[in-house]
Amino acid sequence: MTGHTLALVRDGDVGEMARIHALSFDDAWNGIMLRRILAMPGASGISAKSDLRWTLSGFALFRIAADECELLTLAVAPERRGSGVGSLLLEGTMARAHRSGASSLFLEVAEDNGAARRLYDRRGFRPVGRRPGYYSRPSGSPVDAVTMSVDLDTAGPWEPASPETAAVGRD
Ligand SMILES: CC(C)(COP(=O)(O)OP(=O)(O)OC[C@H]1O[C@@H](n2cnc3c(N)ncnc32)[C@H](O)[C@@H]1OP(=O)(O)O)[C@@H](O)C(=O)NCCC(=O)NCCS
Repeated sequence: MTGHTLALVRDGDVGEMARIHALSFDDAWNGIMLRRILAMPGASGISAKSDLRWTLSGFALFRIAADECELLTLAVAPERRGSGVGSLLLEGTMARAHRSGASSLFLEVAEDNGAARRLYDRRGFRPVGRRPGYYSRPSGSPVDAVTMSVDLDTAGPWEPASPETAAVGRD
C-alpha cells in the first residue's frame, strides 16, 4: 500500500469528503452540512492523503470545547480501509486535541459497528454511556449508540504526533 500524510482539512477537500461520507454512513452529510460543521466554534478536521496520488483516503472532524474534544465523524474510503488509515486519523486527532488543550476525547459509535469499536478499543477508549435506539438502520431496526471516551493526558504519546508530518504504510 502507499503512504499517507495527514493535513488539516481545507475547503477544496469538502467535495471528496462528502463522497466518502456518503459511502460510509446511512445518514450522509453533504458538502453544505460539512461546511456548516467546520464553521462551528472549535471545529476542525484532518485528512489523510495518499502520497502516491495526493487524493483523499479519509478524514476526521472534531470539535474542541474547553478541555474536551468530541470526534464528530471519522470515515475512510471503502477501497482504502484495512490499511491503517483509520488508525492514523484517530491518532492524529488525539494528538492534535491534546496539543490544543483537551484532556479527554469522546465519541459515539453504533453498538454493531465492529470495525470502529475495535479501532477505538485498541486506542484506549472505554464505554462511558449508552443511548438506546439512537441510530436507525435502513431496515428500520434501532441500534444503540455507545459513548466512548479516552483520557488524553495518559493515552499518549502518539505516533505520529503531528497531523502535518504524519505518515503511515510507506513502502
Ligand atoms: C471504522 C473505519 C474508519 C476504520 O478505518 P480503517 O482504515 O479500515 O482502519 P484501520 O485499517 O486502521 O483498522 C483499524 C482496526 O479495525 C480493524 N478492522 C478494520 N476493518 C475491519 C472489519 N471489517 N471488521 C473488523 N475489524 C476491522 C482492523 O483490524 C484494525 O484493528 P487493529 O488495530 O487491531 O489491527 C472504517 O471502517 C470506516 O470508514 N467505516 C465506515 C464509517 C465508520 O463507521 N466510522 C466510524 C464511526 S464511529
